[in-house]
Amino acid sequence: QDDQFKKVISHAKEYGYIFQSSEIYDGLSAVYDYAQNGAELKKNIRDYWWKAMVQMHENIVGIDAAILMHPTTWKASGHVDAFNDPLIDNKDSKKRYRADVLVEDYREKIVQKIDKDIEKAKKRFGDAFNEEEFRATNPNVLRRQKQIDEISAELARVQEENDLEGFRQLIIDLGIVDPVSGTKNWTEVKQFNLMFGTQLGASAESSTKVYLRPETAQGIFVNFLNVQKTGRMKIPFGIAQTGKAFRNEIVARQFIFRQREFEQMEMQFFVKPGTQKEWYEQWKETRLKWHLSLGMGAENYRFHDHDKLAHYADAAADIEFNFPFGFKELEGIHSRTDFDLSQHEEYSGKKLRYYDNETKESYIPYVVETSIGLDRMFLAVFSNSLVEEELTDGTTRTVLRLPAVLAPTKAAVLPLVEKDGLPEIARKIMDDLKWDFNMVYEEGKDSIGRRYRRQDAAGTPFCITVDHETKDDHMVTIRHRDTMEQQRVKIEEVRGIIAKEVDM
Ligand code: GAP
Repeated sequence: QDDQFKKVISHAKEYGYIFQSSEIYDGLSAVYDYAQNGAELKKNIRDYWWKAMVQMHENIVGIDAAILMHPTTWKASGHVDAFNDPLIDNKDSKKRYRADVLVEDYREKIVQKIDKDIEKAKKRFGDAFNEEEFRATNPNVLRRQKQIDEISAELARVQEENDLEGFRQLIIDLGIVDPVSGTKNWTEVKQFNLMFGTQLGASAESSTKVYLRPETAQGIFVNFLNVQKTGRMKIPFGIAQTGKAFRNEIVARQFIFRQREFEQMEMQFFVKPGTQKEWYEQWKETRLKWHLSLGMGAENYRFHDHDKLAHYADAAADIEFNFPFGFKELEGIHSRTDFDLSQHEEYSGKKLRYYDNETKESYIPYVVETSIGLDRMFLAVFSNSLVEEELTDGTTRTVLRLPAVLAPTKAAVLPLVEKDGLPEIARKIMDDLKWDFNMVYEEGKDSIGRRYRRQDAAGTPFCITVDHETKDDHMVTIRHRDTMEQQRVKIEEVRGIIAKEVDM
């Protein structure tokens, strides 16, 4: 798993997808830049989401709100008071950890022990093995499961009650050891707010403290009535947006999975109070279908329903994806009640109510939200696509099997040699197609096989090869990345063949 993840990171750099930010200065921790191919892949994921959510839904419109918002927004939303991570330091290593992550990692180890017990028993009993029965009767498993339940209950309690001393006690009682110093010498637990603050205005006296938004959602809530009225929207309806969000994450790790600057794709769906449960279920299903439409394997997704809810939610679930480091949250679906709009009414003193023309009632709508991290989706697509293939002739090839609709470059045009008029024909084919598809010209310097491999690794779904016969028969060879199949076709047919696979 670790090896696969390392390959993903180095491949992303080598093929111009992701660079460390400010690399010449040794980088900035947990901040990354999207390179020439990465920017295209990211744009294509964003477009794929936008088309599915906005263009395909008559009752969803998109906006693009500012990153900076009036500071009261974050008091109303609860982020000033409740957007905190509990932190603990080890006195010897001076390393800082998220207290909840320490406990969760410890609990996960026990889960893994149970998995091992089950694996062993499976081997021993073969076909006769019944996992359910084993879990219900095996004393080792029962003891471990009891431990897991006790840890979960206590973790939920200290989080719920914000009992910082209880948090520390839990870590000490469990005997959690710092992986760096190997000691259990812990400090007290402190709260740390994740929002990035900055100054609006230049002079010291007149400047105000503002925040970089930690989620895009609030730009939608504060615009709810403006959009509803000017767009003559009728409930139920949605507002979508994509854009940067910032969180001063303490444990920023796992490449672009958890960053300090990242992009969200969110949609807030406004519904009549009392109908939120149905819409919540419906959006869970719709969003999972969107993921499955990319063909990255149904077995790589699962739902995780939350027991512990954020301060604004009455139901919440994650869509988890099988990343190289295991199943982790990719998208959140939250039933946010009327929490946000009610808060903004209270703090702004402005009514944020929907007037229903038919029933003549006015009310604060309930909200069901779908929220996915664009960078996380990028990592899901990229890591899932990178494979090392054994070929029938005994050699291997590295191929980035990106869904064609998302691939940065749709086709490469390759003259067999860089002479005899072949480059001119190749250029002409490229010029005819490049408004519709992002194309690349691959000079005829290296052998054709080498150039195919390079395009395989870069994720290009099609290679179009121009050879000496093309001059007479006006035909080219199209090679398909995944099957390596080659097809001889008329030049005029090329557009249709590409379009069939890459059109959204
Ligand atoms: N408006 C709701 C909201 O922001 P969230 O679960 O905190 O909910 C939603 O975030 C999604 O944003 C997550 O599922 C994840 O994909 C992405 N995300 C959150 N924090 C992130 C980070 N530090 N780096 C990258 N993506 C992040």
